[in-house]
Amino acid sequence: MFSRYKKRPEQPQAPTATAPAPQKPAIQQPLAAPKPTPTPAPKTRAASVLPPDSKEAKRRERLADIRVKLHKTLLETLNLAALEHASEADLRAEIEAICTDGLAEMGVVLNKEERRTLHQELFDEVTGLGPIEPLLRDDTVNDILINGPRQVFVERAGKLELTSVVFKDDKHLMRVIDKIVSAVGRRVDESNPYVDARLADGSRFNAMVPPIAVDGALVSIRKFKKDKLGIEELVKFGAFTEEMALYLRSAVGSHLNIVVSGGTGSGKTTTLNALSSMIADNERILTIEDTAELQLQQVHVGRMESRPANVEGKGEVSQRDCLRNALRMRPDRIIVGETRGEEVIDMLQAMNTGHDGSMTTIHANSARDAVSRLENMIAMAGIDMPLKATRSQIASAVHLVVQATRLMDGSRRMVSITEVTGMEGDIITMQEIFRFKRFGIDENGKVLGQFEPTGIRSHFSERFKQSGFELPNYIYTQTAAQ
Ligand SMILES: Nc1ncnc2c1ncn2[C@@H]1O[C@H](COP(=O)(O)OP(=O)(O)OP(=O)(O)O)[C@@H](O)[C@H]1O
Ligand SMILES: [Mg+2]
Repeated sequence: MFSRYKKRPEQPQAPTATAPAPQKPAIQQPLAAPKPTPTPAPKTRAASVLPPDSKEAKRRERLADIRVKLHKTLLETLNLAALEHASEADLRAEIEAICTDGLAEMGVVLNKEERRTLHQELFDEVTGLGPIEPLLRDDTVNDILINGPRQVFVERAGKLELTSVVFKDDKHLMRVIDKIVSAVGRRVDESNPYVDARLADGSRFNAMVPPIAVDGALVSIRKFKKDKLGIEELVKFGAFTEEMALYLRSAVGSHLNIVVSGGTGSGKTTTLNALSSMIADNERILTIEDTAELQLQQVHVGRMESRPANVEGKGEVSQRDCLRNALRMRPDRIIVGETRGEEVIDMLQAMNTGHDGSMTTIHANSARDAVSRLENMIAMAGIDMPLKATRSQIASAVHLVVQATRLMDGSRRMVSITEVTGMEGDIITMQEIFRFKRFGIDENGKVLGQFEPTGIRSHFSERFKQSGFELPNYIYTQTAAQ
């Protein structure tokens, strides 16, 4: 078969596809049972997990072997440089042709469906990220979590599921990780065993490799959602009520400083994004993130992304550096993706000194906890301030804490909206305006509960009014069942 995508014969490292190592036809080889994996049985049940000796598991193992052999042949045969300019159709045709030759040489006969799957897997392997490529394409998948080569979990609709996706071995997984990190100009290996990066499509990527990851590389991908959840969708999904949305609109419109608090994956960034969509179009907004995830629709937006040090330990630009610089860039509002360290000082100062309406997220389990976290961060940043002074700084900077939570059924809800009203003695005073009250769990595991106002009117009512957001009384009294 002649092909312009094949390596030229004069390239010494390129044995041709027509000369594979002699071997027994794979189809006639006894099917070895898959090796027991050292990883413990996963706690989460998943319909797609197969018993290792099942017919289907054996079939998959056999196909995986064939795929590995053909992939090797492809890498040896294809001229990867020429491939960069090949059209998808050309490349698919090329892969199919090489596959057909390879299968014939191995003496393997596959049915149409198996051949189609094999072609797609090889295409993904050559052009994309191999076995996880279908998961990246699947819009229902939010997160992909890999614990070594044999365990790939996904999160769909708030629930974790183990998938049937596996990598051939540690090396295969490492090859995919290398492909991802080298594409964004980073490196990960034994001496530099973890990396946090943003993929070309905007997805957030983190990997930690052995020896720090004990049972094989750990990878977490938070997929980028092209269509971010807007206010209407969030209300429809029951994340909060229309009344709460109305209240939040007034809070954002009146330039309250807002902290979105929540645990990991609880919907903090989604909430921050939704809140920032309520900002007027004529304001200058600067965003600072470790990994740029926010998608602001306004015209006047300046986005910054911090940068870790390079391998020589140089070139770091921290969130704090960005924030300090942002203050010189005449922002109306500053949005910090997540406050987790020393940048807290500059964030609070910005909130206190004329950048009202700034927003951030923080890792905490309740509004009260969020305030304590801020205190701790200030203490850890090495600022020697009496506790009362720290608290009064926080109390005057932060107006509102919005608590996001992932409930047991996987749903995300805004379980509390709490105002910071000031100080009484040494204590920061707060009042909850809305909350989600849980009653129990139904037979399908769904959390039962309702959003309710606490009946307390906003401390900022006058400010809302002055900014043209007078709220009707009913929002403080009406309960919404879920
Ligand atoms: N109310 C919601 N309903 C359904 N899905 C949601 C909701 N809020 C967030 N999600 C989804 O949950 C996932 C996690 O959300 P998000 O990234 O906002 O969480 P996070 O708290 O910022 O996470 P992390 O702590 O990892 O930064 C995303 O895929 C998002 O699309
Ligand atoms: Mg986030």
